[in-house]
Amino acid sequence: MKKFLDLISEEMKNAFEAAGFDRELGKVTPSNRPDLCEYQCNGAMAGAKLYKKAPIMIANQVVEACKDSKVFLQVEAVNPGFLNLKIKESFITEYLACMRKKPKFGLEMPEKPSKIIIDYGGPNVAKPLHVGHLRSAIIGESIKRIARYAGHEVIGDIHLGDWGLQMGLIMTELKVRQPDLVYFDDDYTGDYPKEAPFTIAELEEIYPTASAKSKEDEAYKADAMEATYKFQNGVRGYWALGKQIIQVSIPDLKKNYKNLNVEFDLWKGEADVRDIIPVMVEDMKKGGYAYESDGALVVDVKEEMDTKEVPPCMILKSDGASLYNTTDLATIKDRMEQYHPDKLLYLADKRQELHFEQVFRCARKTGMVDANTELAYIGFGTMNGKDGKPFKTREGGVMRLDVLINEINEEMYRKITDNRQVDEEEARQSAKVVALSAIKYGDLSNQASKDYIFDIDKFTSFEGDTGPYILYTIVRIKSILNKVKEQDGFTTEELCRAGDTLRNAGSESEKALMLAITGFHAMMETAYVETAPHKICAYIYDLANAFNRFYHETKILTEEDQEKKYGWIALLLLTRDVLETCIDVLGFSAPERM
Ligand code: ARG
Repeated sequence: MKKFLDLISEEMKNAFEAAGFDRELGKVTPSNRPDLCEYQCNGAMAGAKLYKKAPIMIANQVVEACKDSKVFLQVEAVNPGFLNLKIKESFITEYLACMRKKPKFGLEMPEKPSKIIIDYGGPNVAKPLHVGHLRSAIIGESIKRIARYAGHEVIGDIHLGDWGLQMGLIMTELKVRQPDLVYFDDDYTGDYPKEAPFTIAELEEIYPTASAKSKEDEAYKADAMEATYKFQNGVRGYWALGKQIIQVSIPDLKKNYKNLNVEFDLWKGEADVRDIIPVMVEDMKKGGYAYESDGALVVDVKEEMDTKEVPPCMILKSDGASLYNTTDLATIKDRMEQYHPDKLLYLADKRQELHFEQVFRCARKTGMVDANTELAYIGFGTMNGKDGKPFKTREGGVMRLDVLINEINEEMYRKITDNRQVDEEEARQSAKVVALSAIKYGDLSNQASKDYIFDIDKFTSFEGDTGPYILYTIVRIKSILNKVKEQDGFTTEELCRAGDTLRNAGSESEKALMLAITGFHAMMETAYVETAPHKICAYIYDLANAFNRFYHETKILTEEDQEKKYGWIALLLLTRDVLETCIDVLGFSAPERM
């Protein structure tokens, strides 16, 4: 259905036209002075020059033309020529009633959905997830859900980091500990064992040990580089061992992402494009794009309009090894050939901007991506601690994600059980759900590109612009609905049937709540077009505030006029559904109680 603001603008444009003015002057915007009006139109001001007429005269003529409007309750011309608008309650009721009946509240679906691949994982296998991966997962998951809700076909790919030196480091340390492993025997031609010679717990210990050793021991590091090279070039034993490192890591990663309510459709990694790399390199050479420079193979990607230096994109190092660029480029080739996407969207730390600039330019220049496919990168800022520095453990180390999440779960549990008698099991469960909202909302309510301060006290608060506040509001609505069910002896279905008919707002706070809901479509559209989950946060924060104001001023449960009461129930049901839809799109959910 049409956006609410567009409908109002349409009505105002008709009025301008009827009064003899250009209809385009009738554009309506939300009010700058909510104390005076709900919407405003500044078209008479703009028309003054055009018609050589005082703006207030134009405004007065428009007021006259609005006399029989079904949309406007009040159109007021104020000096020097502004139009202050208030909307008829009945018009709002009709609009909301329509929203309630339609799937997705009547959000318009694209004629031709886009196929979008989102690359928003990037965890490195064998290393535990740390807070650096948190933002990518949270923002990416939300963008994926927004695009799906907007009607597009979206594929989320984790794009595992399984190609770098960490692979060789692990292999080198394994060789030190278990030199007789068949993977290291160059003469071995048989099958490799199905079982990996390590567990995930061992892997997590092996990597930091190996990494520390390589920093002190040159020979050890050289071994690790050689092992990496062998793995990347598919030397049988090393390739098989690498695959096992990946296989052992995946279930652990899945568990961690599940705790974050993050789900990938594809579990591909950098190593999956191994066979594509030689073909791609050959094409780049044949096409005359790649050339040798100091022994390395590079493609020039600078452009005339550049204001900063964009160095050539390195495809192969002088020792023939491939790099981060190489796997990203080969992955683009693979994605284009397998999925024919309209858009490839990447999420990574904003410090990777140059990398993506080089890769995108190289992909276009070498013809791997055609003009119709959009390449986009969202570089997000750093999550800082209260001291304004990148988030660390108390000891100053990199914070593991599971440690951080546990800390917040505990804090939430403490808040939920504070001064209250609650069932232990239920409190633990709710604490988890609310903690996730605290983390995700705390992140998503900021514009992605900005750094932000991860403030546990603030994020877990039930008051203010936080996830727990939003959930608290939803739970409050659910609790009223449950009480009405009990009071009147209704089942959930009966309650919905009884609360089927919205009524015109009877108070200012009720009207404000209803108006807040009408902004849903415009907000969703912007969130999609601008890949901006923070717009959803801002919307639900306003909506929750509007609801709570209405709630404090309205005695729903004791209302004797049944028609009135069930009109409110209808409004509560709609408010709850809109809020729950929005948090689902943000990637979290609300508990039944808290
Ligand atoms: N693995 C990388 C890292 O940990 C992030 C990968 C981002 N995605 C990509 N296609 N390059 O920094």
